Amino acid sequence: MDKMWAGRFAKQLDKLADDFNSSLRFDCRMYKQDIEGSIAHALMLSSKGIITKEDSNKIIEGLSSILEDIEAGVLTFDNDAEDIHMFVESELTKRIGDAGKRLHTARSRNDQVALDIRMYLRAENNEILSMLLSLIEALRDKAKENTDAIMPGYTHLQRAQPVTFAHHILAYAMMFIRDYGRIKDAVKRMNSSPIGCCALAGTTYDTDRYFEAEKLQFDSIMLNSIDGVSDRDFCLELLSAYSVLMMHLSRFCEEVVLWSSWEFKFIELDDSYSTGSSIMPQKKNPDMAELIRGKCGRVYGDLVALLTTLKGLPLAYNKDMQEDKEAIFDAVDTVKLCLSVFTPMIATATVLRDNMLTASKKGFINATDLADYLVKKGMPFRSAYKLVGETVAYCIANNTVLDDLPFEKYAELSTLFEEDVYNEISLETCVNKRISAGSTGPASVNAQIDYVSEFLNND
Ligand code: ARG
Repeated sequence: MDKMWAGRFAKQLDKLADDFNSSLRFDCRMYKQDIEGSIAHALMLSSKGIITKEDSNKIIEGLSSILEDIEAGVLTFDNDAEDIHMFVESELTKRIGDAGKRLHTARSRNDQVALDIRMYLRAENNEILSMLLSLIEALRDKAKENTDAIMPGYTHLQRAQPVTFAHHILAYAMMFIRDYGRIKDAVKRMNSSPIGCCALAGTTYDTDRYFEAEKLQFDSIMLNSIDGVSDRDFCLELLSAYSVLMMHLSRFCEEVVLWSSWEFKFIELDDSYSTGSSIMPQKKNPDMAELIRGKCGRVYGDLVALLTTLKGLPLAYNKDMQEDKEAIFDAVDTVKLCLSVFTPMIATATVLRDNMLTASKKGFINATDLADYLVKKGMPFRSAYKLVGETVAYCIANNTVLDDLPFEKYAELSTLFEEDVYNEISLETCVNKRISAGSTGPASVNAQIDYVSEFLNND
């Protein structure tokens, strides 16, 4: 088949070069947006008298039948076309003849592709946003059920202070709320229409870019036509937001992997989200969590790949930019895939509260509270800190814990100790007496749950 641009050339394109140049195998996924954009373009052209109403109607009918046939699986993407834009246009001309050849008046593939990606990403990101809401909701519900489940909070992966499982899980809910905001911001900034920028310089036809933008639900138009065709910032913004989101998922997954181990056993993953081993009959592996942790790397890769592709590109369109699609598509697919598995995996996991509590009883995680006890009785914090350090060392040497140390020993260490010390350093007291905003105490955790619920109600 002759290329659309064959007029300028004496020879056919080399077969390998042709395949190399073609993006149809990956940009065919934007067929719907390409057709919707073309319908809006035909409407604009006829409304401005640039083509006749009759031609516009034929074009719209032709495009609608192409859409139907693609969706019914009757029309498949033949690889002769250079990209989805050429594919749709040549199919249209095949179907309706000369009217089809008028569609590309006052536009270029450069503004067309910029339009299609934005529309495609807008739809995909609406899905990603609603998947994020489901995840945040699942975490809120898990938190609600576990406001009194005490677990060790860690720093340096060493037991540090007691927290509740609700508090810990809500930390992730806060991260995902920020991810939601980042993606929403990027989508909002992306929602300016590039169509009508044409190749780069605009056009001599009296077009109406605002008409097209409105028809395609854009908030505004790209104000500079050179920027309109060469901007891919929105892909980078989304890739950055996805990278942070994947980083959050990978941290959570790392904890799921640890928590599922026999060493922790803080949670039990549902069988439907666990795998066995081909050789070790006893194994129950957290493959889903490991895979999500692993897939974080490919999303970072997509971000760095596109940043590198765009680096140093002169204005305006360059074919290098065709590389944007595989990177952003891969990241979109990966994020959706990971969220679709992660949310039910977490929602169906069983929280093993007893094991968390047992782990909390070791490791002196109430040592800060013992120091605070002395401070409240008048001792300067640094002195109390030192004394408790010595007490911990004594307990370790004598194979005991602060809660079991006989009162005579406490009395020997400081006259400030009274019998109430045991109650004051119990895990429940440590948690319940945390009253600062954002802390692990029940009032604060309930306020955090309310905040998440309010976010869910408003978005
Ligand atoms: N397939 C191309 C891309 O994805 C479409 C734009 C082509 N424009 C051009 N002038 N060759 O970037």
